[in-house]
Amino acid sequence: MEVSILPKYELKESEVKIVEEIVSKYKGKKGSLIPVLREIQENIGFLPVDVQKKVAKELNLPEKEVYGVATFYSLFSMIPRGKNNIRVCLGTACYVKGGKKIVEKIEKELNISPGQTTPDRKFSLNVDRCFGCCGIAPVIMINGKVFQRVDPEKVMELVYENEK
Ligand code: FES
Repeated sequence: MEVSILPKYELKESEVKIVEEIVSKYKGKKGSLIPVLREIQENIGFLPVDVQKKVAKELNLPEKEVYGVATFYSLFSMIPRGKNNIRVCLGTACYVKGGKKIVEKIEKELNISPGQTTPDRKFSLNVDRCFGCCGIAPVIMINGKVFQRVDPEKVMELVYENEK
């Protein structure tokens, strides 16, 4: 299983319990791989590698097969959603006014790339094309709140001040 570029996300105790309940419900039943993965995805929001290994073991399937299915369907994700969602606009207006620098600053500080979540599941970083408010570029959104004319050097202050 080649997924070393992904951080290792620890599951909470309650999530481990949920996974165990789902897996034991399907244990020994043929053709249950997709239903099991779907139920886990719906309940805990992602399919970490350790969970995939557990599913493979309990359903008596090769890990490779579970990984193949988990990465093939777009409804499955191996990355959890962070508690705080940071979105940076990289539409033309924002890009030329510093959007790229904002992304780089956040990437460096949180050590993640767009589309990823920090290992402690506190922050997710995503980029968008245009928020539709180019007049106040560069724009970012933290947990649904819009921030205008953001200074790349001060973006982390904004992130931490508005963290849940
Ligand atoms: S380009 Fe960023 S809001 Fe339009």
